[in-house]
Formats: sequence, C-alpha cells, structure tokens
Amino acid sequence: MQYKTVPALPNARISTIGFGCWSLGAQSGWTNSSDEESVATVYKAIDCGVTFFDTAPVYGFHGSETLLGRALQGKRDRIFLASKCGLLWDDNHVTRRDLSHKAVIADVEGSLSRLKTDHLDLLQLHWPDHETPLEETARALHHLLEQGKINAVGVTNYSVVDTVALAKLVPVSSYQGLYNLLERNTDSYHSISLEYEAEREIVPFCLERGMAFLPYSPLFQGLLTGRFNADSKFGSSDVRSANPKLAGDGYRRYVAAVEGLKPIAAAAGISMTHMSLAWLCQNPAVTSVLCGAHRPDQIADNAASADVVLSEKTLGDIKEVLERNGL
Ligand SMILES: NC(=O)c1ccc[n+]([C@@H]2O[C@H](COP(=O)([O-])OP(=O)(O)OC[C@H]3O[C@@H](n4cnc5c(N)ncnc54)[C@H](OP(=O)(O)O)[C@@H]3O)[C@@H](O)[C@H]2O)c1
Repeated sequence: MQYKTVPALPNARISTIGFGCWSLGAQSGWTNSSDEESVATVYKAIDCGVTFFDTAPVYGFHGSETLLGRALQGKRDRIFLASKCGLLWDDNHVTRRDLSHKAVIADVEGSLSRLKTDHLDLLQLHWPDHETPLEETARALHHLLEQGKINAVGVTNYSVVDTVALAKLVPVSSYQGLYNLLERNTDSYHSISLEYEAEREIVPFCLERGMAFLPYSPLFQGLLTGRFNADSKFGSSDVRSANPKLAGDGYRRYVAAVEGLKPIAAAAGISMTHMSLAWLCQNPAVTSVLCGAHRPDQIADNAASADVVLSEKTLGDIKEVLERNGL
C-alpha cells in the first residue's frame, strides 16, 4: 500500500486505495452484499493497509454506518473515518438535500452513534443544497469543529464556485467527485446533473489548493473490471439498475471502450481492475481512490493495485483508446 498526505490534512496518513462503504451490508441495495461478508471485508481492508474509509448516513439508509460501527470496534484508531451529511429521505427512500444547521447537527450526532465513535476525521457535505445559505451550513460546521466531533470538512459534488465560497467561511480540506477512466469530465451521475468537470476543473483546483481529491466510482460500478458485456443487466433491486449509463446505446459505447482497453491491460500483464485503479493512483492530484467492495477478495485485489506502476507507453495507449471512443 502507498500513503499520501496533503497540506489541507497535514496529520492524516491516507492510503491511496480507500474503501468506499456504500455496498456494505445486506440492505445496501447492491446485489450479493451480506452482513457477514461485509464485516470480513472491513477486516481485510485494514489487514491490507487501507486506512481511508468513506461512508454516509444514506448508504443502506443507515445500514453502512451501522455495520461499519460494529466492524470497527477496537480498530477505530487505525483508520481515517469519513462520513457525510445533508441527504435525507422519506418512507419510500426518496432523497432530498438539506444542509440546514439543524439537519447537519442531527446527521453528525446520528453518524457518531451508529459508527460508535466520538469523532469523524472528515465530514463531507454530500450534495450542494442551493436552498440553504452557505453561512448557515458553515455555522453548524464551526460548532462541530469546536466540539471536536469532526476534525475536518470536505465537499462532494460541489461546483468550484460554491467550494471557493464555502472555503471563505470554513476550511475545506477535501473534494470528492465522480472520476474514472471513462467518466473524466462527465455531466451526470444516475440522472443527476453534475456541477463540475472532474479532470478539467477539480484536478487542477485540488492541486492548487493542497486539498485532498477523492475520486468515487473508480471502477464505474464494476464496468471497468472488464466483467460486464453488452448484454449485462442488473436486477431491479440493484442500485445499478438506476444508472442510465449502464443500459442502452450509451452503455454499448462504454463497453466498446472497455473492449479497446483490455488488450492494453493484457500487454502490460495486469488486470483491467488494476489498470483502472493504478491510472487514478498515479495522478498526483488523487489522494485516495474510493473503491467499492463487498467481498474480502475484492478489497484485497483493489489494495494490490496501489503498487502497480503504469508505464508511459501504457498511459499513452490508454489515452489513444479513450480519444478514439470520444471519451
Ligand atoms: N459522493 C458521492 O456522491 C458518491 C457517489 C457514489 C459513490 N461514492 C463513493 O464511492 C464508493 C465506490 O463507488 P461505487 O460503489 O459506485 O463503485 P465502484 O468502486 O466503481 O465499483 C464497485 C463495484 O465494482 C465491483 N468490484 C470492486 N472491486 C472489484 C474487484 N477487485 N474485482 C471485481 N469486481 C470488483 C463490485 O461489483 P459487484 O457488486 O458486481 O461484485 C463492486 O460492487 C462508494 O462506496 C462511496 O463510498 C460517493
């Protein structure tokens, strides 16, 4: 495993492969996740040297945090624990954004209780809430920082303009955004319009400010492992069935790009998974790649990619295939 520090998080030792905990637990909404295997996956991650764990109240509608809290008993001090706030949901699991003072405080209190810890190393604002003034959210964040319930603040899915505006009110240490080989400057995620372009805007922005950049969905929800084909389909209970990019003509275009990338991985003697993750790890702006996994073998495989070095030739060949496919 490799580790990085960034000026905005000077005391953190962050593994370049992080553990994205959305799919933890049987109620996560990801096919095949079980509680028992998820706990074993957390243990395996720690054994492999993974220190960065990313979760959120909304993942599994409290399920991810609850399971993680159980699994981390006696191990909390070995990891850097990040959660989020600002996404609420109704009885039908329809989400809405709320970064009001009251909602931020309530979210963090709930997270601390489920995660069985007295502090979060990083609290991230999950999605921008344009109905709540940034000043109000910042007041809640200052309160939590002063109480020691959070050690640092980050944003996810924010525009650069809003991140800069927030940073004038409270220090912003990290940016989490959608970024992988096939979605470098994409404009949507699960039908939600994105207010940023990851490679064009966020990469230079984080480098310039010394902030951590945390790419999410690094394997395009599994597509970049090379396991899927044009006929792959997801059951209605799998969250991926709600990703329009994994169906129809757009999907076939992505699959064609993956087919173009496979010979490059083969020539380098590595798997598609390792090539996709190493491509991110090698980017100097990237601090920790947030890989989803629900089995111990998956997180171990992902962790091993931190030690893979892609040659200039491999990087050049990848670039050519992406350009040829209009990506
Ligand atoms: N800030 C945000 O708005 C946001 C949004 C999305 C995600 N995230 C974060 O990013 C994390 C990861 O993103 P993601 O969950 O969307 O997807 P991802 O990491 O791109 O893909 C995860 C899926 O890839 C497959 N996989 C993982 N490792 C594998 C391996 N070594 N070999 C074969 N298959 C492997 C598994 O698929 P199978 O289930 O088919 O085995 C797994 O469920 C989340 O857990 C979360 O922490 C944040």
